[in-house]
Amino acid sequence: MEMPNAQAMFVHDDPMLLGAAVAERIFRLADEAIAERGVFHLALAGGETPRRCYEQLRHHAIDWPHVQIYFGDERCLPNGDANRNDSMARAALFDHIALPVGNIHCIQAELGAADAAARYMMVLNGIVLDLVLLGMGEDGHTASLFPDNPATLSADAVVPVYQAPKPPSERVSLGLNTLNAAREKLFLVAGEGKRGALEQILLGVTLPASQIINAEWHLDRAALPISISRRA
Ligand code: 6PG
Repeated sequence: MEMPNAQAMFVHDDPMLLGAAVAERIFRLADEAIAERGVFHLALAGGETPRRCYEQLRHHAIDWPHVQIYFGDERCLPNGDANRNDSMARAALFDHIALPVGNIHCIQAELGAADAAARYMMVLNGIVLDLVLLGMGEDGHTASLFPDNPATLSADAVVPVYQAPKPPSERVSLGLNTLNAAREKLFLVAGEGKRGALEQILLGVTLPASQIINAEWHLDRAALPISISRRA
């Protein structure tokens, strides 16, 4: 199966094994980055798929004081709202590891998309992300870059997102150029709900997720398009 623009594709039997494999990959990349540059700039994905991976990350001997955490996107919800992406990461990971609070760079999405995007642009200024973790929605969106949404076409480093089809409608997202400028990009995609978007991408349809170049795709079997899963 040839994913356009993909660097590599890995199929895992189930979401737990997918999470474990990606956690191991993050551990390795963190080790390399810290050895080479003294720091690992990691942008986390939102949604539910990465939760298991973040829970597994607790058990890896990552040198957390040398890790700087960012977010690929955030939902414009009040601070502490359970549906925020940083709330999931906090519950699954931050509350269980020795990560200095100052190393966690949340998107201040509670301020509204425009203000939060402008502020986060300053946070990211001059930073080259070592690894961006990404999910993919059933419509092929990634981070908060949705099909046919102006934010997806923006060249800005961080973009306000309005009228997102996945609630809440107002969000903040790293722009496509920022995502692609990361040293490594890694997708975590699980569940049969994602088959349709993967099928479209395989057929050459341009969706936001397919515009991420040289990414590693980590899929579970359920997400594989039927035509492929019979062969895989
Ligand atoms: C969000 C995420 C979004 C997510 C995909 C997949 O804020 O919703 O950033 O891009 O990664 O929608 O979500 P699931 O992992 O829950 O399927």
